Amino acid sequence: MCWIKLYTLFFYVIIFAICALMFEVYVEFYNHDNTPIRHEDTPIVLWWTPFGSHDDYRKCGSVSCFFTQNRSYVNNRNLKVILYYGSNVDVADLPIPRLNNVKWGLLHEESPRNNLMFVHEDALKLFNYSATFSRYSDVPLTTVDLPGINELSGTTYFLPTKKKNLLMKEKKLAPVLYIQSNCDTMNDRDLYILELIKYIPVDSYGSCINNRQLPDNLKENYVDQLNKKEFMEFVAQYKFTLAFENAVCDDYITEKLWRPLIVGSVPIYYGSPSFKDWLPRNNSAIAVNDFENPKELAEYLLACLEDDEKYEDHLKHKLLKNKINNKRLLDSLIIRPNDLFSIFGYYVSKFECYVCEKSQLNDLSTVTKKHYNCSKPMHIWQNKSDSGYKKNFWLDMWEQEACTAKLLFHAISNSQSINMQKFDIEKMEMYESKKCFDIKN
Ligand SMILES: *[C@@H]1O[C@H](CO)[C@@H](O)[C@H](O)[C@H]1NC(C)=O
Ligand SMILES: *[C@@H]1O[C@H](CO)[C@@H](O)[C@H](O)[C@H]1NC(C)=O
Ligand SMILES: *[C@@H]1O[C@H](CO)[C@@H](O)[C@H](O)[C@H]1NC(C)=O
Ligand SMILES: *[C@@H]1O[C@H](CO)[C@@H](O)[C@H](O)[C@H]1NC(C)=O
Ligand SMILES: *[C@@H]1O[C@H](CO)[C@@H](O)[C@H](O)[C@H]1NC(C)=O
Repeated sequence: MCWIKLYTLFFYVIIFAICALMFEVYVEFYNHDNTPIRHEDTPIVLWWTPFGSHDDYRKCGSVSCFFTQNRSYVNNRNLKVILYYGSNVDVADLPIPRLNNVKWGLLHEESPRNNLMFVHEDALKLFNYSATFSRYSDVPLTTVDLPGINELSGTTYFLPTKKKNLLMKEKKLAPVLYIQSNCDTMNDRDLYILELIKYIPVDSYGSCINNRQLPDNLKENYVDQLNKKEFMEFVAQYKFTLAFENAVCDDYITEKLWRPLIVGSVPIYYGSPSFKDWLPRNNSAIAVNDFENPKELAEYLLACLEDDEKYEDHLKHKLLKNKINNKRLLDSLIIRPNDLFSIFGYYVSKFECYVCEKSQLNDLSTVTKKHYNCSKPMHIWQNKSDSGYKKNFWLDMWEQEACTAKLLFHAISNSQSINMQKFDIEKMEMYESKKCFDIKN
């Protein structure tokens, strides 16, 4: 009896081993079918600023490319595209001379504040492909900070108006929430908000215009918890949330707008001039620019506080059955992963594949201001007779970076290597003699 059992066991072990072997072989073959094998002439895409894929072969449509961050490929004859992450582009560290047959791609979803050079066309036109916040770029990143459509229409955090009215009494909440820790902005938003506070109460929790303390569960490092349930619930209590971007560019829209929309607090928005194109419904946010000054805005908000129906006009994306009717927004959210952590990665590989496929074609293309259109720093509002009137530091930087862009374009077009000391001196000379702005801005 015992022998028979042993034989049976042995038999099963053998069967199992054969299956495992076949599986290995299958996986091996399967892989060989799908992972491109590197040929002599596989196009190479190099990330000059470390980002994206590294030492990875990938098939993009009918083309396979090798993606790497290893700069030793810069002289490889198969190098087709060099990619850059905008915030990390350093004038002192670029592959010069630029080779004629190597195209450049720029990926930048962040604020131009992180590299002001790119607000100038002279810097943009060094590149052939772009993935930026603009809807016109090759791979648009406009909605990269938005988790998905269900979050916009969902009511997980949403509080009915009656409940919000009650909270204002019980917790002595102001109708308007402001929470920022970055107070030195290109558009001096705090000046506007200080004026607004004269006419309507604002609870300000961050380090800018601080007038109230966060509850204990959010006190520590609130910046790290912005997507946490507790923070969302906290924002949801407020009727309105001030959502001021730190830069004004077409289609540059961040979580500052999306978060209040998601929790059902009405955003009071300043930033992208085209932001209404991306709202769930055309009335889902209040635009600062629709009002002459902070006082007029406050009057409108006060009227909404008096009239629940008027207020709820701005919340139809939460309250109505057929909620979101913006086709442009809906279309931009199809075909992508539905968790926030993989969305950015999805767009990065999409851009990599875009340039991989394009590298095989000979079409000419250049990045222009249309793909990255920001307006000059200016005060949103300022009492000009006030003695505190100050010149905007960011405007100086903006103009200096116009010189950077101009000099850089000149150097690269003429294959001149860059000596930073000389470059900076020349830049300041040009800036001081106002020679950087013959280009259109
Ligand atoms: C970069 O690539 C070269 C050869 O192509 C290789 O010798 C070197 O080890 C690589 N460096 C890194 C850091 O991977
Ligand atoms: C919103 O859209 C409706 C219908 O398309 C239009 O009548 C209305 O004027 C729009 N409202 C705003 C604030 O743009
Ligand atoms: C890529 O951009 C450079 C710099 O503007 C330009 O000289 C070159 O012709 C462009 N290449 C293609 C293929 O469009
Ligand atoms: C850039 O934005 C400004 C102001 O919104 C607009 O007037 C201009 O037409 C835009 N330029 C491009 C090239 O899109
Ligand atoms: C502007 O500033 C002046 C001087 O500080 C002050 O008298 C005036 O009331 C202010 N106007 C507004 C609208 O705040």
